[in-house]
Amino acid sequence: MSDLVRTLLAQHAETTRLLGVDFLPLGRPSPSVIPEPEPVGSSTVRDVAPRASAAVEPKAPPRLATAASVSVRACHEHLSDPQAKLDAVRDRYLADAPHQHFVTSFTNVVFGEGDPRARLMFVGEAPGETEDQTGRPFVGRAGQLLDKMIVAMGFSREQVYICNVLKTRPPNNATPTSEEARLCAPYLIEQIRIVSPEVIVTLGLPATHLLLETAAPMRELRGRWWSFPPGREGDGSGFIGASIMADPDLPTIPVMPTYHPAYLLRSYTEENRRKVWSDLKQVMDRLRAGSPA
Ligand code: URA
Repeated sequence: MSDLVRTLLAQHAETTRLLGVDFLPLGRPSPSVIPEPEPVGSSTVRDVAPRASAAVEPKAPPRLATAASVSVRACHEHLSDPQAKLDAVRDRYLADAPHQHFVTSFTNVVFGEGDPRARLMFVGEAPGETEDQTGRPFVGRAGQLLDKMIVAMGFSREQVYICNVLKTRPPNNATPTSEEARLCAPYLIEQIRIVSPEVIVTLGLPATHLLLETAAPMRELRGRWWSFPPGREGDGSGFIGASIMADPDLPTIPVMPTYHPAYLLRSYTEENRRKVWSDLKQVMDRLRAGSPA
C-alpha cells in the first residue's frame, strides 16, 4: 500500500470517527444484504442536457399540483425498465420546467442519480453551486460528507439513489419555499414511485416537511420512523394533495429524517454527529432486517 493510499485511508477513518461512527461493516457488504451495483443508467449528468445559464421570467404557477402529478405519472406508465421510467420523468420535468415559476437562472437541471432499484434513497433540499455546475446531486462539500455516511453504512454511492426536492439551484442557495417544493413534488413523487426504495432518508427540513406533510421542527422528527405517504387520510391541505396520498399504487415507504450534511458541517459538534449516526444505524438495522436470509 502506497503512503498516499495509507494517508487517504487514515484521513477517511478519522473523518468517519469524527462523524460519530463507532462501528464499520468489515469486508465487502454481504450480497444478500446489499445488492451488487448496477450500471448507472442514462439519467446521469452525461445525458442531462446542459443549459447555459438559462434566464427565465418567473411565470404564475398552476394552482393544483395534482394535475401535474397525473401527467407526470402517465409519461412513464407504458415503460417497464425503471431507468427508462426515470428518464421519462426527467424529460417530462425538462418539458414542464416547473422551476420557471420561481428560479431566474441556473446552469444545469440536477434530476438525481443512482441505482434505479436502490434499496435506500436520500432526498435533499436543492442543488448548490457545484451541483448546478456539474448537473449531479450532492457533489460539493455536503456531498462529500454524505458520501462518507453512505460508505459508513456499507453502501457505495452507486448503490443508493440520491435526489432533491428542487431540481434547480435556488438563487443564493435560498431554502426552498413550500410553494416551490409543491411545484416540484410531482416529479420527486414519481422518482420515489419508480425506485420504490425500502427506506427513504430525508436530509434536512424541506425534504422532511414535504414528504411528511408537517411543519414540525427537526428535533421532533429525526431519529423516529415515519412513512410516506404520511397517512392515507391526508385532507389535501398539505403540499402533496389528497389524491396522490390516496393513490393505492404508491407504495408506503418508511422515512427516517435526519440533519442535512450541510447543517452538520456548520454545526460539527460531537452531539450532532452522534445523532446523525444513530439515525443512520436505525436505517441499517431496518435494511438488514428486510434482507432475504
Ligand atoms: N444540498 C442539497 O440539499 N442537495 C444537493 O444536491 C447539494 C447540497
